[in-house]
This record gives sequence, C-alpha cells and structure tokens, in this order.
Amino acid sequence: MKSLILVLVIAAEVFGYQKVRYDNYQVYRVKPKTLESIKLLKSLEQTASGYDFWTTVKALNHHVDVMVPPYKTDEFEDIIKHHGLDSEIFINNVQELIDNERSKTKSVGFDWNDYHTLQEINIWLSNIAEQYPDKVTLQKAGTSYEDRPIVGVHVSFAPGNENKSVFVDSNIHACEWIGSAVSTYILNQFLTSTDPNIREVADSHDWYFFPVINPDGFTYTHTTNRTWRKTRVPHDDNCIGADPNRNWDYHYNEGGTSDDPCSEMYSGPEAFSEPSMKSLSEYLLTIGDSLEGYISFHSYSQILLLPYGYTADHLDNYDELYDVGLKAIDALAQRYGTEYQVGDVAEILYVASGGSPDWVKGKLGTRITYTYELRDTGKYGFLLPADQIIPTAEETLDSFITIFQEFAKRR
Ligand SMILES: *[C@@H]1O[C@H](CO)[C@@H](O)[C@H](O)[C@H]1NC(C)=O
Ligand SMILES: *[C@@H]1O[C@H](CO)[C@@H](O)[C@H](O)[C@H]1NC(C)=O
Ligand SMILES: [Zn+2]
Repeated sequence: MKSLILVLVIAAEVFGYQKVRYDNYQVYRVKPKTLESIKLLKSLEQTASGYDFWTTVKALNHHVDVMVPPYKTDEFEDIIKHHGLDSEIFINNVQELIDNERSKTKSVGFDWNDYHTLQEINIWLSNIAEQYPDKVTLQKAGTSYEDRPIVGVHVSFAPGNENKSVFVDSNIHACEWIGSAVSTYILNQFLTSTDPNIREVADSHDWYFFPVINPDGFTYTHTTNRTWRKTRVPHDDNCIGADPNRNWDYHYNEGGTSDDPCSEMYSGPEAFSEPSMKSLSEYLLTIGDSLEGYISFHSYSQILLLPYGYTADHLDNYDELYDVGLKAIDALAQRYGTEYQVGDVAEILYVASGGSPDWVKGKLGTRITYTYELRDTGKYGFLLPADQIIPTAEETLDSFITIFQEFAKRR
C-alpha cells in the first residue's frame, strides 16, 4: 500500500499538476532616477502588485529587473513614462526561456548536462554515500513544512579535520536552480578529481553539502511554478510561503523585508517560522563549533557577497574576506572571462536582514563566510540554460579553490 501511494505521488508530481505558464511575460530592466520613483518601485515590490521583482530595488541609478505580465504591460509602460525611468526589455517572453532551459537530450543517471529534481538529487546523495562509505555519510537536517527531509552529506577525506569543517548550501530560494547544480558539481569533483589543487582543498577540511535547503519550494518549481522563490507554508489565505532568506533569527526584520504575506520578501510571522529554516539552524548549532566556513549559492547577478546584510557596518574580518574575495573573482574570470563584483550585501546589493549568512556569521562566528550570486547578469536570469551548468560550475570551483587556498596561507 505504502509503495502504491508513493508511485501515485510521484506520478502526480510528474504528470498531475497544471504548470503555471509565462506566455508573453516580459522582464523589464528599469533604472530609477528620482527618489520618488524608488519609493514607488519599493511599494510595488513589497506588496502583491502583480509585478515580480527578479532583483531588488536598491538605490538611485541602480537597475532593477521586473517581470511584467502581459495584462500589466500598459500600466507598467505608463509608470515608466510618468516617472522618467530608463527602461529596456531584457527578456521578451519568459515562457520561451522556460521551454528552452532544459537539455534536449535526456540524461542517463545523474549528470551536469541538465537540471535535476529533488528526488534525483537525493537519490544521488544516497548513492554516493553507498559508493564512498568511508568518506561520505548521509545527513538529515530536519524536515520541511510539507514533511520533506532536508538531505545533505558529511564528507571527510582526511583525518583530523573535524574542527575545520565547511558548510555549503544552495536553493534556499527555490527558483535558483543553478545553485544546486553548482554545489553538487563541486561535491562530485571533490569525490572524483585528481587535480592536485582540488585534492589539496578537498583534503584540508571536512565538508557538509546540503544542495536543497528549501525542498518544498524547490519541488514546487519543478511541478507547478518555475519562478517560485519562497517556502510553501500557508501563512495567509491568498498567499503562500515566506522568504526563507529573511527568516533567520539574527537582527530579524531590520530592513529589506516585508510584512505582507503576498510579497516575495515576506519575512514570515516571526523569526524561524519556517520549519525548514528552524530545523536547519538547529542542525547548524550541533556542528557550529567545528565550522570554519559557510558558503551559500544563489543566483543571479555575478556577485560574491560578504555579510552582513542587515547593516552596512563592516565585519571584524571584513578586510581578509574582501581581499580573498578579490582573488577569488580573479580566479573565476580566468577560465571564461566571467566578471564578478565583490562586496558586502548591504553595501553592494541592498539591506536585507534575516539571511542565513548573517545568522551563521553572527551566532557561530564562522570565519570564512561568502554568498555567491551565480550567473548570469539578467539575459536569462533564473532561467539559465542547462548548457551553462558545467561552465558556470567550473569557473565557480576555480574561485572556491582559491578561497580555501588563500585562507590556508593566512592561518
Ligand atoms: C575538536 O574540538 C574538540 C572540542 O574542542 C576537541 O575535544 C577535539 O580534540 C578536537 N579535535 C581535533 C582533531 O582537533
Ligand atoms: C508563481 O511564482 C511567482 C514567484 O514566486 C509568483 O509571483 C506568482 O504569483 C506565482 N504564480 C502563481 C499562479 O501561483
Ligand atoms: Zn537567492
């Protein structure tokens, strides 16, 4: 009976749901040039306006990417005209990008030529735990609201590193598929590569990889709504979910959040209201003393970020994180010329409180803390074609190796 239910559930996940379509949805890149227009964009961003902000409203002359449904085009064009916004249509038809995102050839087994579902990722994690029993152990960091386990692995190549571990996560934001594609690629390279630089870094720490820390939202992006960002906790009759990266209990709700459950930046009714984040934080506390590094993968914008998000004040070790960050983005650019910026969240991006890196840095004091906003800079946004997974992962690994080699010199 149980296996029959499982089969039915899987069938429903594959065939059952009606997928949200984005025919003729456009992504505009607009640049606010007056304080009044910033105010207007912020109010549209923080409420259920029908506009979906793919990047956040920052400051004067900083561009913002906004997805506009076809029935709102006239209204949005009026706003642009009335407020004298610089504007450009960056994506002409979101549905077309969704249709072209996935690889045309079906992968056999797990690889990096295409994106994978939660189930495929979790099966791969249990397979590597079986294949490398002396190095990899399966971990569970609690469960989500919809009762999915938050699955990861603890990886150890050399003895004596137990107090020098690094936690790597991705897909806290559900729609940022390139995140888990890159983190699983790095994990696989650690397991299989013979490159001496990769081996040196892999051997130098213990590793925790948790590719999908928002499993409910991630599943929903595969079954139903490709651009879903939040969790799936029903806080409101009309709007589901909270932004899990605004939900952490460190300077919670101190800016860059919304109290409107319909906003994409809704921080939840209280800190750690989202079961997935609460249980992940409890797991992190159990390994907190051993953590030397925390790396979180997001997309998109090509930025390497340092904490804090809640304030533009500098961290105690801002200088070393910034210096190493510059070396890391240099290394990243070597392979394909991909250009990144480096800086702290509040300075370079926007004030955004309640993020996981702030909590890790603030509560656990983890020395090496970076957040990647991976490819691209908006041509595809979250809908990065699958044939960019491997190049993105390769260049990211180059920078990842540099981070840990540079910190090894600074012990
Ligand atoms: C790790 O830290 C714990 C607690 O401080 C200590 O007991 C243990 O010996 C350390 N392990 C190593 C390999 O240094
Ligand atoms: C799909 O997800 C986006 C982004 O989270 C959201 O704005 C939109 O309302 C969702 N669409 C539907 C039909 O649920
Ligand atoms: Zn994100």
